[in-house]
Amino acid sequence: MIILGLETSCDETSAAVLVDGKVRSNAISSQLCHRGFGGVVPELASREHERLIVPITEAALFEANIAKKDIDVIAATAGPGLIGAVMVGLAFAQSMAWALGVPFVPINHVEAHMFSPFIDEETAGRGPEGPFISLTVSGGHTLLAIIGEDLSYRIIGRTLDDAAGEAFDKTGKMLGLPYPAGPAIDRLAKEGDPLFHRFPRALTSQSQTSKSYRDNFDFSFSGLKTSVLTWLRSQEESFIGLHRADIAASIQDAIVGVLVEKAVGAARSNNIGTIAVAGGVSANSALRQAMEEACRKHGLALFIPSATYSTDNAAMIATLAGLKLSRGHQPMRRYDTAPFASFSAAGN
Ligand code: KG4
Ligand code: ZN
Repeated sequence: MIILGLETSCDETSAAVLVDGKVRSNAISSQLCHRGFGGVVPELASREHERLIVPITEAALFEANIAKKDIDVIAATAGPGLIGAVMVGLAFAQSMAWALGVPFVPINHVEAHMFSPFIDEETAGRGPEGPFISLTVSGGHTLLAIIGEDLSYRIIGRTLDDAAGEAFDKTGKMLGLPYPAGPAIDRLAKEGDPLFHRFPRALTSQSQTSKSYRDNFDFSFSGLKTSVLTWLRSQEESFIGLHRADIAASIQDAIVGVLVEKAVGAARSNNIGTIAVAGGVSANSALRQAMEEACRKHGLALFIPSATYSTDNAAMIATLAGLKLSRGHQPMRRYDTAPFASFSAAGN
């Protein structure tokens, strides 16, 4: 089965071709037009997607050596995301499916991240076996879920405020790093001392409240943000300049420490032997290393997709569509557009 997947929910325009569950191509264009604004400008993002969606789709088909007429199914991100950005990919994908006469599968972006451990080319179509804990950490979401053997899932924890990626991006901005600051903190922290300053780790065994958080799998990163801001304000500019790498490493250590404790805690208290980490923040080298060490120590199996599949990409959209279809999920056909059908029925 040949699936064309499309992803346009934020600032990556991506198209991928999946042939019988294996990634044949995964074209990604990351928008540079937001640099200088300190974040993604929604209107610019939509315009860039509109400009790039056709060439990126053509590039993915060309690289996979697949003609349009060979496509069996088209899948696209249907949310959550920047609404204008999502609409560009969704309208394009549905129009293309309509024109080619093939079914369309709408995909939830966060679910696609959750199931991205299944797209690693090495393990295509297999991925983690049995129930596993999914830690999904991106710019907009932070959640822990138990995914069952039938791939149904139950969310057991989520952030109460900021997402982990947002914590990286906002604290990095305070350090004067360019957007998105996550990768920049990762690089800078390699030369720094993570024990230089201890930033707070909310809702963990190391938080300063007396309450036990052993079986609480929610996250909170807004306190860390405030703590970094007030601490930086209390320091001399020259001192900050001298210790930027140490500060970056200390911030990273606080975020990574929370993520590892919660993920391992969730696996242990639910008696589950496998953890999968996904989403943009799973590209973080310190998180990868700390998760590997913790999983080794506790005898847990670990799945983390390669960095290309951690951040936004269309291979995860096509893969989740394939997983759903192989489990009997019914795709949409053009005449399945329920709201319009009932509207016209009411009119008759
Ligand atoms: O999954 P993603 O590409 O988009 C969303 O769905 O949000 O995640 C983007 C987030 C950003 O916050 C970015 O700073 C973070 O992932 N990120 C990283 C790294 N690479 C991307 N954070 C820390 N270390 C990295 N190496
Ligand atoms: Zn994402």
